[in-house]
Amino acid sequence: MPAKSNNAPHLFQPLTIKSITLRNRIGVSPMCQYSSEDGLANDWHLVHLGARAAGGAGLVIAEATAVSPEGRITPGCAGLWADRHVEPLIRINRFVRQQGAVPGIQIGHAGRKASAARPWDGGAHLEAEAGGWPTLAPSALAFGAELPMVPHAMSIADILRVQNDFVSATQRALLAGYEWLELHSAHGYLSHEFLSPLSNQRTDSYGGAFENRIRFLLETTEAVRRVWPDRLPLAVRISCTDWAPGGWDLEQSVELARRLKNAGVDLLDCSSGALIPGVKIPAGPGFQVGFSEHIRRETGLATAAVGLITDPAQADQIVRLGQADVVLLARELLRDPHWPVRAARALGQSTADMAPRQYSRAW
Ligand SMILES: Cc1cc2nc3c(=O)[nH]c(=O)nc-3n(C[C@H](O)[C@H](O)[C@H](O)COP(=O)(O)O)c2cc1C
Repeated sequence: MPAKSNNAPHLFQPLTIKSITLRNRIGVSPMCQYSSEDGLANDWHLVHLGARAAGGAGLVIAEATAVSPEGRITPGCAGLWADRHVEPLIRINRFVRQQGAVPGIQIGHAGRKASAARPWDGGAHLEAEAGGWPTLAPSALAFGAELPMVPHAMSIADILRVQNDFVSATQRALLAGYEWLELHSAHGYLSHEFLSPLSNQRTDSYGGAFENRIRFLLETTEAVRRVWPDRLPLAVRISCTDWAPGGWDLEQSVELARRLKNAGVDLLDCSSGALIPGVKIPAGPGFQVGFSEHIRRETGLATAAVGLITDPAQADQIVRLGQADVVLLARELLRDPHWPVRAARALGQSTADMAPRQYSRAW
């Protein structure tokens, strides 16, 4: 390890943002479970999120949770559009906290990618007879491929209503005991659809110039920040590039990060892609880490890196080199909820505050 890195933060160094301290830099990336009915969390979510909290992650971010029924990707997606959604989440979050992890949630609206079948049912747009519903987007442009439904181009009233839905969902997330909130503005869902010129061809103040395309997200962020307490971290996930000519790119992401920082965002979660089908993505180990590193260096905003991070030394290096403040893992934590404990052992770090004492004889 180079001398400079010895004093640098590492994977198992706690991170404090606002009043919240993560016990380490490992987060569970939000992962749709498609297992809700009417948006409600149930025992599956308790076990799924609870197991990963017990597995030692510092941060457990619950799946993309719809701010309105029409904002769900599938009929099985989680929601926070009604007060009844809060109670089952309180139980889950209490358990996550008891395990020493910070409970977080990602809220979003699926835009033109809503009204789809669950992935294990093919993932294609649902016809009305099969339980589908009309979709909304900045412009009446279909995603294509298995999602051919042409969305309704949002009126200004639609925009205000969805922004209000984000605010109401935020208030319910607070009541549910979440301590970390992430706005979903990535992967081709509604907020990302506003950002990219490939999906936003509006001619009003929400389309065209960069300033206009970022307006939906900035206004939503500002409105959310007004009701999400100052003491709690607010994150935004973006796709740092569409990987497509004429689309959203890293340069715009840097400028957006500056604006989001000014709007009170504490961390940018740096993902990529999924705005349009058929795009070639050079996926490989840590392939999105460079976006996080660049944005962190250029703007001074804290970042999370995500995408094919599977190896303890790789994850540790990302933090030590200042490429990100937090690493988020998705599929590797599905394969092994105890990855954080394994990683600590592999890196010679203490597992004292991570491995549940019920399991202490295993380690
Ligand atoms: C089952 C599954 C569900 C996912 N759901 C979401 C989601 O709700 N929100 C989101 O932003 N990304 C979602 N993703 C993407 C992951 O959060 C993550 O960015 C991606 O899988 C890359 O990380 P990985 O290589 O560690 O899996 C999902 C991924 C998987 C595998």
